[in-house]
Amino acid sequence: MADVVVVGAGVIGLATAWHLAGASLSVSVLDAGPLGGQSSHAAAGILGPLVESRDDGPRTRLLWESSAAFPGWIDALREDSAIDPEFEPTGILRQVAAAERADLESSLGWRRQYSPEVEWLEDADPAWPAAIWSPHEGQIRGPSYVAALAQAAATRGVDIRLGEPVRRIRVGRGRVEGVDTPRQSLAARHVVLAAGAWAGALLPEAEPLPVLPIRGQALALKATRPPFPHVVFGPAGYLAPKRDGLVVVGATEDADAGFDARVTLAGIAALSDVVRVMSPELLPLPFDGAWAGLRPATPDGRPLIGPWPGADGLIIAAGHYRNGLLLSPITARLVGELIRGEAPSLDLAPFRPERFHRR
Ligand code: GLY
Repeated sequence: MADVVVVGAGVIGLATAWHLAGASLSVSVLDAGPLGGQSSHAAAGILGPLVESRDDGPRTRLLWESSAAFPGWIDALREDSAIDPEFEPTGILRQVAAAERADLESSLGWRRQYSPEVEWLEDADPAWPAAIWSPHEGQIRGPSYVAALAQAAATRGVDIRLGEPVRRIRVGRGRVEGVDTPRQSLAARHVVLAAGAWAGALLPEAEPLPVLPIRGQALALKATRPPFPHVVFGPAGYLAPKRDGLVVVGATEDADAGFDARVTLAGIAALSDVVRVMSPELLPLPFDGAWAGLRPATPDGRPLIGPWPGADGLIIAAGHYRNGLLLSPITARLVGELIRGEAPSLDLAPFRPERFHRR
């Protein structure tokens, strides 16, 4: 019997497995597809706890705390994986459009509570008369981060089984017993459900988890070197320059695509517009491909992290929407605390997975 079966080999599942294996637990990770095959692989890798937030709520505090854990997390990851995930804490510039100026200027107060060095810039660029400079945000390279987590987990003895879908989470007498796949039944003391946009269907419940797919399309341009040293965010998208000159342009939010993860011409048109408005000098760069992923969204925008009532040993870690990479260290830590029977180091009430259910 495994100590823990993790359902989902995206960044949340892999980070959790790596963390748990470091506490000497035996861990298996199962996924229907390849490593990080969905939103984890599609991610542009933005680590933007403030730029991705609208107010100072529990979600922002969770993002910030996870962001603060990143430097130490990446050091350990490099050691265990020998893969460099291109962690770049080089700051994020937020271009401010005229229509958002008043709102964003008045948000400086709560932003500076986290990061007193956040600056309001005037006349930084003729196309963008105002901008916010936030020096303690950054980025990582999504596919390398997935590879590093998987390698680090394997180094710690995690058994990763790809192409093996979990069909059912078994629960008996109020306690999780394991999972069934088309090939086998795996017994486990704990099951962590980290299946992203697919988490909704897997619960042994009449009411599924309200996790919905929101497609994000992105494209890449290829420069010979990074055109700027940091991520630039705007009202309709972002530009994330990678070390080798790739510039990731993201991302659409397609609420009506269901589980269709294909790129559309409308998506390419919207992303071309992001480049035209934010940084038109990039338009002549060669096109280097386009892709899409399905973000796991929840009705209130907050992830689902915590034990599942009525099934001791079953823990939900899903619904991280636009911030799965950023939230992976803190989610792994919180799940680890729950599995070890420790009091969570952060108030989990705003993230209770059953908060939408009528009970
Ligand atoms: N975090 C960026 C995105 O989801 O597009």
